[in-house]
Amino acid sequence: MLFSASRLAAAVLVGGGAANAAYSIASTADIKATAAQLAWDLMQYYDGNTTGKTPGILPGPPPQGDYYWWEGGAMWGALIDYWKLTGDSSYNEVITEAMLWQVGPGEDYMPPNVTASLGNDDQGFWGMSAMLAAENNFPDPPSTQPQWLALAQAVFHTQANPDRHDNTCNGGLRWQIPLSNNGYNYKNSIANGCFFNLGARLARYTGNETYAKWAETTWDWMTSVGLMDAEYNIFDGGHVEHNCTDINKAQFSYNNGVFLLGAAHMYNYTNGSAVWQDRLEKIVDATIKVFFPDNIAFEVACEEHMSCTTDMLSFKGYVHRWMATTTQLAPILSDKIMNVLKTSTEAAIATCKGGNTGRACGFKWSTKEFDGSFGAGQQMNVLSAVSSLLIGQTRPPVTNSTGGTSKGDPNAGSRSDSFDGKEIPPTAGDKAGAGILTFLILGTAVGTFGWMSTGV
Ligand SMILES: *[C@@H]1O[C@H](CO)[C@@H](O)[C@H](O)[C@H]1NC(C)=O
Ligand SMILES: *[C@@H]1O[C@H](CO)[C@@H](O)[C@H](O)[C@H]1NC(C)=O
Ligand SMILES: *[C@@H]1O[C@H](CO)[C@@H](O)[C@H](O)[C@H]1NC(C)=O
Ligand SMILES: *[C@@H]1O[C@H](CO)[C@@H](O)[C@H](O)[C@H]1NC(C)=O
Ligand SMILES: *[C@@H]1O[C@H](CO)[C@@H](O)[C@H](O)[C@H]1NC(C)=O
Ligand SMILES: *[C@@H]1O[C@H](CO)[C@@H](O)[C@H](O)[C@H]1NC(C)=O
Ligand SMILES: *[C@@H]1O[C@H](CO)[C@@H](O)[C@H](O)[C@H]1NC(C)=O
Repeated sequence: MLFSASRLAAAVLVGGGAANAAYSIASTADIKATAAQLAWDLMQYYDGNTTGKTPGILPGPPPQGDYYWWEGGAMWGALIDYWKLTGDSSYNEVITEAMLWQVGPGEDYMPPNVTASLGNDDQGFWGMSAMLAAENNFPDPPSTQPQWLALAQAVFHTQANPDRHDNTCNGGLRWQIPLSNNGYNYKNSIANGCFFNLGARLARYTGNETYAKWAETTWDWMTSVGLMDAEYNIFDGGHVEHNCTDINKAQFSYNNGVFLLGAAHMYNYTNGSAVWQDRLEKIVDATIKVFFPDNIAFEVACEEHMSCTTDMLSFKGYVHRWMATTTQLAPILSDKIMNVLKTSTEAAIATCKGGNTGRACGFKWSTKEFDGSFGAGQQMNVLSAVSSLLIGQTRPPVTNSTGGTSKGDPNAGSRSDSFDGKEIPPTAGDKAGAGILTFLILGTAVGTFGWMSTGV
């Protein structure tokens, strides 16, 4: 089954106890020391660089371990940002090995091992981490290896390919890539959000207007189909057999984060255009309103009753990182964003037991106590929150005209498997797989999520 309540329960131990002051973010030195410990703790979840294990992935996919393929890609992004923000290069070789191992034969982040659960969002998360490496001049791979910018382009180009765009729901990307996968009939915000985000970033990095046009088209589609409403609420998705009118109204913070960062790039790419300034300001406000009650990150769809899946337990960190990067692209929003992120981070570190105990940060930040819940996502969240506080001391993302060194390839992605109409035999261990869980697939788990709108 796609969702295992028992696994979730097992990860929530009886914890509690008073918040302690193990960590501090009072000074730059404190932030760096705290982040270093959190990064080390996070890496305790990774065994891909040990004999017999697969580089790049966290233990999984379920049922072999807790984590789907995409979360490894997301984690390398958090660690690339960690290096950018703190200057600590301890993990750079592990990051590079991981990011290159998973590129797949088309050099486009579609490795055959994960075909049976491969979503546009899963591929997108790896692509966004490659883009991040290019934007920050993360050490370039040897010239015989694929390059960061070309990898991000490959992901984007495969997603822009006509094969992945059909007229159902008037456009937009489907969730899953191969036609035979569960969820191929679902068009969702995160798949389109990753595509929008990459398009906006590639436009700014390369100056190529084609990418910006795709980003505009995707934004317009999201609003026209109602996946983003007039208040900038972003909903999960809808089915093609219903013309995407059966919208699942669940709201997840990573959807806001991924669109917010893309909007910041469009704002910057358009030299601060009024249209993108308006959109960016409103999505930032909506994100704070929905996901930061009392200025503390809160995963509104699942946190109250701790019905979050492993995937959802990692969303807070992306939002913190992407809001922080937004302050470099749109300095007018810096004070507003950093005030929230600082308050949220203070709460986050109060959930950590701290010390060299490993795996020690919780998830319910607003309680300011360890809630007994731990895992790679929880750890990555706090690492991301803490390290992002250094954003003001770092260089903004580069472009190919402001010092970017990563080599691109306008034809990247052209050697990809198009999967057009082919039945893909599930590979071992993948039958139960799903990339990033979205809810309509979870039919039987409906009862677990009290907040969920019914009638789907
Ligand atoms: C795997 O990476 C971690 C983190 O960089 C490192 O501490 C460890 O020594 C590495 N293990 C191997 C076998 O290379
Ligand atoms: C695919 O799975 C095999 C078997 O587990 C593993 O040896 C290989 O490294 C994996 N490839 C990728 C790209 O993860
Ligand atoms: C811009 O990007 C598109 C899409 O990748 C590509 O077809 C085109 O050749 C690029 N134009 C330039 C000038 O690089
Ligand atoms: C599907 O929805 C779109 C709006 O998203 C609408 O323009 C179109 O007419 C609808 N198509 C059908 C067949 O109902
Ligand atoms: C932004 O401004 C620069 C410098 O004035 C100009 O070259 C560029 O075309 C502008 N970009 C857009 C998208 O208007
Ligand atoms: C775009 O980003 C740069 C940093 O790369 C920043 O200096 C500039 O002010 C931003 N543009 C706008 C309109 O805020
Ligand atoms: C940046 O990339 C674009 C598109 O490939 C190209 O036209 C432009 O010359 C590049 N600029 C620099 C400074 O390399």
